[in-house]
Amino acid sequence: MNRKVRIGVFGAYRGMTMISVLLRHPEAELVAICDKYLPALQKAGDAAKEAGLNIALYENFEDFFRHDMDAVVLANYANEHATFAVRLLKSGRHVMSEVLPCETMAQAVELIEAVEESGLIYAYAENYCYMWHSFEMRERYARGDIGDVMYAEGEYIHDCAAIWPGITYGQRDHWRNNMFPNFYCTHSIGPMLYITGRRPVQVTGFVTQRNLTVPPLGIKSGECAGIEILTLDNGAICKSVHGHLKREPGSINYEIYGTKGSMESERFQPSYAQEGREPEIQVYREGEKLCIGTTERYHPGMQAIAAEMAKKFSTHGGSDFYPTHFFIERILGNPDGEKYSIDVYQAVDMGICGILAYRSALNGNAPVRVPDLRNREERNAWRNDNKCTNPAVAKGDDLLPCYPAGSMEYPDSVYENVRDLWLAGKNAE
Ligand SMILES: NC(=O)c1ccc[n+]([C@@H]2O[C@H](COP(=O)([O-])OP(=O)(O)OC[C@H]3O[C@@H](n4cnc5c(N)ncnc54)[C@H](O)[C@@H]3O)[C@@H](O)[C@H]2O)c1
Repeated sequence: MNRKVRIGVFGAYRGMTMISVLLRHPEAELVAICDKYLPALQKAGDAAKEAGLNIALYENFEDFFRHDMDAVVLANYANEHATFAVRLLKSGRHVMSEVLPCETMAQAVELIEAVEESGLIYAYAENYCYMWHSFEMRERYARGDIGDVMYAEGEYIHDCAAIWPGITYGQRDHWRNNMFPNFYCTHSIGPMLYITGRRPVQVTGFVTQRNLTVPPLGIKSGECAGIEILTLDNGAICKSVHGHLKREPGSINYEIYGTKGSMESERFQPSYAQEGREPEIQVYREGEKLCIGTTERYHPGMQAIAAEMAKKFSTHGGSDFYPTHFFIERILGNPDGEKYSIDVYQAVDMGICGILAYRSALNGNAPVRVPDLRNREERNAWRNDNKCTNPAVAKGDDLLPCYPAGSMEYPDSVYENVRDLWLAGKNAE
């Protein structure tokens, strides 16, 4: 392609992050934005105007879909990405998807096949893989600094109770209210797979008890955390934990033990929660003699890749620039895009671990084999598996409760209260 990549953005709330990258990226042109929520659409349009662009704004996806563009960023509801991605790929557009990649196993298969059949680019915007600490771990792992992974931990602790009004708006069926505890798993699982390049082969899922001390906010699972124990294809074990646990600031930390050493981020440093303060990492490398080696501790600092552009974006530990940048580079066939962008297979590996972990949690924590959906012969077993907690997708027995012991039901007044707080611009207390 010897012109700028023309990109549209679907969803202008989180999508503002990608919009602001696109507005400054020399190889891309933001051409259209779609959001049904007018204030968000207006804000995005104003940002484009300020940058000197007169772009198309759509309230309706069907109108946006018809716009002439090469690629689309999906920053719409987290459980609806696969459905829109498949449609867009079939219409000839490259796709970058925010987290999560899919809501069901059937969608995982359909998404992979749409990418294969279209021959287009699919990139997964798991920005936690590009934080300074996680990205540095990937580079060092790739250099062989700690050998082959034996055990890893990934932690994404983010108690969203206070900000719940601002991220669910009092909507009873908002995806954040409907999701099961293991769903939002790729901030903790993603970096472990990205750093090591390994594939999960088995998962065992757990959910904690509900924290009933938190006032009702409309979360149908209740306030709890999801935990996934993965076995990787070399026999290594990973622990992933994410969700509403009490910790301020939150924790985004990773720990990788290998056959020749280990790497971990420093848990008392407030990672992205306080912008500009990045965690240190510690790297131990065993030398010639057993149990004797070197231990380094340092701030990894910002990635060297496209540093001039990247330094304008400090959010989420400096990671918010890279998914969009690598997506553009991959469309253009540039080496950084090929090397660092997360493809559909790895995206699905990251996402289905949560889906299958919840099956495990529903079934007394029995381990579940994670299929390798790269293999066509493994797909048929999952092609029609629509089980999830979303009544718009799962019918009859396929509709799962939002928590193993059953979904919480709330009166309208709970959602009205959350909505009032949102409209008043207030947090829950
Ligand atoms: N990677 C990260 O760090 C990070 C952080 C926050 C959110 N996210 C992801 O971003 C995505 C969006 O989350 P959010 O925080 O913006 O909240 P959200 O899901 O409530 O917002 C989605 C936006 O898309 C719009 N939208 C959805 N469906 C639409 C449709 N059919 N037509 C028109 N507009 C539509 C909504 O009006 C809303 O403004 C989710 O996938 C979430 O997981 C990622």
